[in-house]
Amino acid sequence: MKTIVYYYSHKGSNKYLANKIAKDLDCDIEEIIPRLNSHLLMLMKLNFGNRKLKSQIENYDRIILCGPIWMGQLIVPLHNFVAKNISRIKQLIFVTCCGSNFDNKDEKFGHNNVFKELRKLAEDKCLHCEAFPITLVLPDELKDNTDAFMKTHLNDANFKGKIHKIYDALISKL
Ligand SMILES: Cc1cc2nc3c(=O)[nH]c(=O)nc-3n(C[C@H](O)[C@H](O)[C@H](O)COP(=O)(O)O)c2cc1C
Repeated sequence: MKTIVYYYSHKGSNKYLANKIAKDLDCDIEEIIPRLNSHLLMLMKLNFGNRKLKSQIENYDRIILCGPIWMGQLIVPLHNFVAKNISRIKQLIFVTCCGSNFDNKDEKFGHNNVFKELRKLAEDKCLHCEAFPITLVLPDELKDNTDAFMKTHLNDANFKGKIHKIYDALISKL
C-alpha cells in the first residue's frame, strides 16, 4: 500500500509526529503550507488556501493527515486540504497531537468534535482518527495546567510511556 503523510504544524509537535510516522512506515511526507501562513488569520478562519503540493495525491492508496486542533475545530489548512482533494483521496487517516485529553474529548474543545467534522467532510474515506494528547507527556500535577501544555512540544526525550504505547498500536494497525 503506497502511503504519504501530509502535515501542518505551528509549534512543531505535529511535525514531530508526522516525521516519526513517515520514518516508521518508510513512506513519503509533505508539509501543507498555507498561502498566508499567519496563525492569527487562520484562527480568525480567514481562508487564502494552501500552496500547491509537490506530490500527486492520486498516486497514493492512503493519506495520513496530521495537524493540531484549534478552538475545537478542524483548522483551516487541514480543512482546505481535505475539501479540495477529497475526490482524489482513496483512504484517509487523521492523526493529531492536541491539547484535549481522553476525559474531555467530547467537550466543546475536545478532539472528538474535530473527528466528527472530518468524518462528515471525508465520509467513508476517513478510516481512522487518532489523538495524541500533549498532556500525556506532562507530569500529573501539570496535566490541567493550560500554560504548561501550551509550552510543551513533542520530542524524542518526552515521547515515551503511554503516548508511545498509543503510537506503537497505531503503527501496527497501519
Ligand atoms: C490558539 C490555540 C487553540 C487551541 N485550541 C485547542 C482545542 O480547541 N482543542 C485542543 O485539543 N487543543 C487545542 N490547542 C492545542 C494544540 O492543538 C496543541 O498545542 C498542538 O499540539 C499544537 O500542535 P503543533 O505543535 O503541531 O502546532 C490549541 C492551541 C492553540 C495555540
